[in-house]
Amino acid sequence: MDITVQYEPNAKQATFHACSADEAVYGGAKGGGKSCALVMEALAYGLENAGAEMYIFRETYDDLEANIIREWKEKVPRELYSYNESKHFAALINGTVVKFRYIRNYADAEGYQGRSMDWIGVDELTKHEKRSIQVLLSCLRSPKGFKPRFRGTCNPGGIGHSWVKEDYIEATGYGVKEMIDPVTGNKRAFIPAKVYDNDVLMKNDPAYVRRLENLPEDQKKAFLYGDWDIFTGQYFGEFRRDIHVIDPFVIPDSWRRYLALDYGLDMLAAYWIAVDDHQKAYVYKELYQSGLIVSQAAEAIIGMTNETIYQYIAPPDLWNKNRDTGKSTAEIFGDNGIWLAQADNNRVQGWYNLKEWLKPYEDEQESKTASLVVTNNCANLIRTLPQLQYDEKNPNDVATEPHELTHGPDAIRYFIAGRPCPKIPQKNGQPKRLIDQLKKKSKVIM
Ligand SMILES: Nc1ncnc2c1ncn2[C@@H]1O[C@H](COP(=O)(O)OP(=O)(O)OP(=O)(O)O)[C@@H](O)[C@H]1O
Ligand SMILES: [Mg+2]
Repeated sequence: MDITVQYEPNAKQATFHACSADEAVYGGAKGGGKSCALVMEALAYGLENAGAEMYIFRETYDDLEANIIREWKEKVPRELYSYNESKHFAALINGTVVKFRYIRNYADAEGYQGRSMDWIGVDELTKHEKRSIQVLLSCLRSPKGFKPRFRGTCNPGGIGHSWVKEDYIEATGYGVKEMIDPVTGNKRAFIPAKVYDNDVLMKNDPAYVRRLENLPEDQKKAFLYGDWDIFTGQYFGEFRRDIHVIDPFVIPDSWRRYLALDYGLDMLAAYWIAVDDHQKAYVYKELYQSGLIVSQAAEAIIGMTNETIYQYIAPPDLWNKNRDTGKSTAEIFGDNGIWLAQADNNRVQGWYNLKEWLKPYEDEQESKTASLVVTNNCANLIRTLPQLQYDEKNPNDVATEPHELTHGPDAIRYFIAGRPCPKIPQKNGQPKRLIDQLKKKSKVIM
């Protein structure tokens, strides 16, 4: 049987197909032909490794259907496979199975724990949290002795922007070299993409490129040039590890301490916050635990508190009465020794205010800091705050999905609600600063 596949890879796609690294990410600009290449890569692996168990993931089933499955059905000759519409897999004639699956969040990813996958393809890798992809990577093994492979495609931006950039792009010097992941021993590669790589698109739809060229500057950088140094969609673009994350230190007894929390059975996020004489806030302790009923949550908080707390702050919905018991969550906290104060819950105003608190400035020692900093033991707040995205429907608000990202930042928002950002302390008065500046200038001139 002589079957021709109607696919002529462009130069970048060819590099992607030729890549022998265990993990390869093909990413950057829009429209370069990444999704198409992922599908064809799946076909090539599937044909080469008869009987393989393969998975292609995307964020939603609609996206899978509109892109990946459509691409598969358009480009892969019908003689090579049969498609199971109800179970969403393609069975190749050699016994290989390619399953089309979606993972919207971590819980979906966890559902795959324990499976064996010879080949994993993730289209739009930056739409996923690192831990979701780690679950998938833990499934990457081949009982039949094939070479397990992970292949991802992506654009800059999205909740996974930072970790993809760190693990695949920066780690490989923007695709210049392959690197070995010290934990798994897997070889990683990155293949940068540009829209101009896609000859077919350039020929058939030149207006597409013009639309990209007319985007606002940061989106243009990301989607046209595949620039990873922007962070489209990140709400707290001002958050920087080197500015906002500090080492723990001995907090003076005189500083007032607060505790702000967000409570649900799915997650208790509680933060101990100290405020210095200039009203600068230091988030210094974190409790981040799921599955606690209210009395257990109160017990856990009390167990971690040996300082005097001036105020315990919580969102207003904790005062809603439970229909069965007639009691509110706030009352049950009270019964268990924690008397909560009600915070304002105006989301947009709260996020704007938090942006003010996070705005970097230079302190008296000329090092960059902000009105709110976090000690490095508050791991979940540090992880989630920079991942928050703009809400697509209301760009002033923070997206409420993935929900897991919102607990820590919400608690901090309750703390700063109605608390104006302190005035930035001035550095030793104007005259001296002017002289310093002149001195600096004269050095440059000399
Ligand atoms: N080598 C090729 N031969 C034929 N058509 C191609 C080729 N590469 C890409 N295409 C077509 O170009 C269009 C854009 O490609 P594709 O969707 O793969 O780009 P992408 O990089 O995934 O875009 P996005 O960044 O928007 O996800 C699709 O219609 C695809 O079928
Ligand atoms: Mg794509």
